[in-house]
Amino acid sequence: MSAADSIHGMWSTRLAFILAASGSAVGLGNIWRFPYTAGEYGGGAFVLVYVLCVVLIGVPIMMAEIMLGRRGRRSPINTMRALASAEGRSPAWQLLGWMGILAGFLILSFYSVIAGWTMGYMFRAATGMFTGIDGAGAGEMFSGLIGDAERLLAWHTIFMIMVVLVVARGVAGGLEKAVRVLMPALFVLLVVMVGYGMQAGDFDKAVTYLFEPDFAEFQGKAGEAILSAMGQAFFSLSLGMGAIMIYGSYLKRDSSIAQNTMIIAGLDTLVALLAGLAIFPIVFAHGLAPDSGPGLIFQTLPIAFGDMPGGPFFGTLFFVLLLFAAWTSAISLLEPLVAWLVENLSFSRVRASVLGGLTVWLLGIACLLSLNAWSEVKIFGKGFLDLFDFLTANILLPLGGVLIAVFAGWILARSSSSDELQMGEGLAYRLWWVLIRYVAPIAVGIVLLNAVGVLKW
Ligand code: PFF
Repeated sequence: MSAADSIHGMWSTRLAFILAASGSAVGLGNIWRFPYTAGEYGGGAFVLVYVLCVVLIGVPIMMAEIMLGRRGRRSPINTMRALASAEGRSPAWQLLGWMGILAGFLILSFYSVIAGWTMGYMFRAATGMFTGIDGAGAGEMFSGLIGDAERLLAWHTIFMIMVVLVVARGVAGGLEKAVRVLMPALFVLLVVMVGYGMQAGDFDKAVTYLFEPDFAEFQGKAGEAILSAMGQAFFSLSLGMGAIMIYGSYLKRDSSIAQNTMIIAGLDTLVALLAGLAIFPIVFAHGLAPDSGPGLIFQTLPIAFGDMPGGPFFGTLFFVLLLFAAWTSAISLLEPLVAWLVENLSFSRVRASVLGGLTVWLLGIACLLSLNAWSEVKIFGKGFLDLFDFLTANILLPLGGVLIAVFAGWILARSSSSDELQMGEGLAYRLWWVLIRYVAPIAVGIVLLNAVGVLKW
């Protein structure tokens, strides 16, 4: 290992990094969260704002996160401290890393519960429980699952054990091989589902719904809709909390950050749009409501699997692959904390992962109980699961993103960023410079200020 390497290991090849970072980005955010959030805000207008956020805010911030990670080669907390001190700035920049750890905890606590739903559905598909199911039946099946706290706890526990097992062994190891096979498989299966939607669903209506923006849908809730689209972009691209930063810290110097970012963000967006194209044809063909909320895919996909030839096989495979996508995302949520515990408190990876996993597991119990026994407990009008989801995707991740943009654009010397990005002073670099210095911080800042009520449009 050379002095320029991370003590936590390095990706063996450029492809390994792309696979791991796409594994982090592609997950429940694309397939579970994107369709129901788009459905809540009426489709096309939301999708358009979402894509704009990915291109104008997500891409430059992802480049900045990878760049900072690779320059720091440590956990986000120590990377930010070291880079700030190299520029003669306050160590307070490490707070960005701490905020990321908090966001990671909160996200993983509910993410694991939803991954648990996926496991439950894997078995429902395998045992033929979807056969001939209609909208009402699928709705009942879903309510039955989320009302059953013990079952949810069992799945949540199994998922957290799966996450801790991988993180304890080190993410630069076996992750790569599994992602290489299973990600393309998920992709192919999504395409099959879109094909089913074309044939058996109301595909035309779904396309119109998703791709013909109707801003009338935003009437009276434009601020909220834009905040959600932006939050969805941060969540889906794994930005703003250090997950991509730590993966960047294991990346070799000779790999182009801009190209890698384009591939990762492009794939992530494609998967989200495919998920929308798979789900909405079924929604419309069966008269279901696009704004059904977090249960949307669990109330629609079973109808398709229950109807298509080979349904139990495709259904099981789909939920297995979705579980896998969730797993590779969850791993990246725990990694920044584990790296810090190893660096600063000399924990072994095993001890660090178990400690982090246990904390998340406890928080997750509050989330799963908020679906049933604690359904009356509300903070700011939301149960724990909804609250953690809102707070992280819509507030903490964008806030982290603004700070990353400000650091990369205003604090880090221009010579350092152009050196690390290896783009010289060409047009592409200058474009990134404008986006990271002005466009991203100002746009995210305005949306956030509007959300907390400081600025009301
Ligand atoms: N990007 C993941 C998804 O779309 O499912 C979720 C996620 C992972 C969010 C890692 C944030 C993060 F740091």
